[in-house]
Amino acid sequence: MAQIIDGKLISKQIKDELKEQVQSMKAEGTNICLAVIQVGEDPASTVYVNNKKKACTYTGIESRAYELPESTSEAELISLVEQLNADDGVNGILVQLPLPSHMNEDKIIRTISPDKDVDGFHPVSVGRLWIGEEGFVSCTPAGIIQLLKRSGIEISGKECVVIGRSNIVGKPMAALLLRENGTVTVAHSRTENLKEVAKRADILIVAIGKKEFINSEYIKDGAVIIDVGMHRDENNKLCGDVDYADAVSKASAITPVPGGVGPMTIAMLMNNCVAAARRQEE
Ligand code: GUN
Repeated sequence: MAQIIDGKLISKQIKDELKEQVQSMKAEGTNICLAVIQVGEDPASTVYVNNKKKACTYTGIESRAYELPESTSEAELISLVEQLNADDGVNGILVQLPLPSHMNEDKIIRTISPDKDVDGFHPVSVGRLWIGEEGFVSCTPAGIIQLLKRSGIEISGKECVVIGRSNIVGKPMAALLLRENGTVTVAHSRTENLKEVAKRADILIVAIGKKEFINSEYIKDGAVIIDVGMHRDENNKLCGDVDYADAVSKASAITPVPGGVGPMTIAMLMNNCVAAARRQEE
C-alpha cells in the first residue's frame, strides 16, 4: 500500500510552527508585513491572492493588498514596487503573475529588491540558489522538499527525475534536489524515451501541465511520486499530471491532487516572509 503524502496536514504543521515564531518575533518588537500586488481581475489570481491573505492572517503576518486596474501602466507598477522596496515597514513583496500583456514580467520581477523577493523569482535569488548561498527559494519546489523530508523520504544518493523545466518549478526543483545530494535528471517535452527516463526515478516529480499524463508505465516499482499538476477532469473534479488511480498501485508514496503539493506553496511563502523579516533585522 502506498503512503499517501498529506500536504494539507504538513502545510498546517508548518503554518502552526510559523505562527509561533511570528508571535515571539512580535513580542520582541518585530512586525512582519507582506505586500501583495495584483494587476487586473484574473479570477484564478484573485483566488490565489485571497488564499495568501488568509494564510497571512492565520500566521499573524500583516498583509497589504494593492489591487490595481488592468489599465495600470508598467511605469506605474514599477514606481509602486520601488516605493515598497524603500518602505522599511514592508518585508516581502509579491507581484501576482500573470501580469497583463502590456507589461514585461521579467522587468517587473527584476525591480523587486532581492532582499524582499519572497517568491524567489529574481535572478539574484535564482543565482544564490544554484551556488548554495542563503536566499529566497521558489515556494512550490521548496514545499516539495518539505513534503519529502517530513514524510521520512531520503533524497541523498537517490535517482530524482523532474519532468518539466519551468523557472518557477522544474529548474529550482532540480537545484534543490541537487543541494540535498540527489542524482538529478531534468526531462521535458523534447526528451526522447520519456518512459525509460521516468522509470529510472526513485523520486519522480511531475510538473508537465498535462492532465493525468503519467501512468504506471512511467513508474518504477516503489518510486515516490510528487504531482505538481492541477487540472479539472470531465466531471469538473480536480486532478493532477499523474493518473493517480493507476500510479498508486506502483508507488511507495504519492501526493494526491488536491491536498498534496498545492497547500505547501502558500506555507512556504509564509516561511519566506518570516525569513525576510529575520534577515532584515540582522
Ligand atoms: N502565479 C501562479 N503562481 C504564482 C506564484 O507562485 N507567485 C506569483 N507571484 N504568481 C503566481
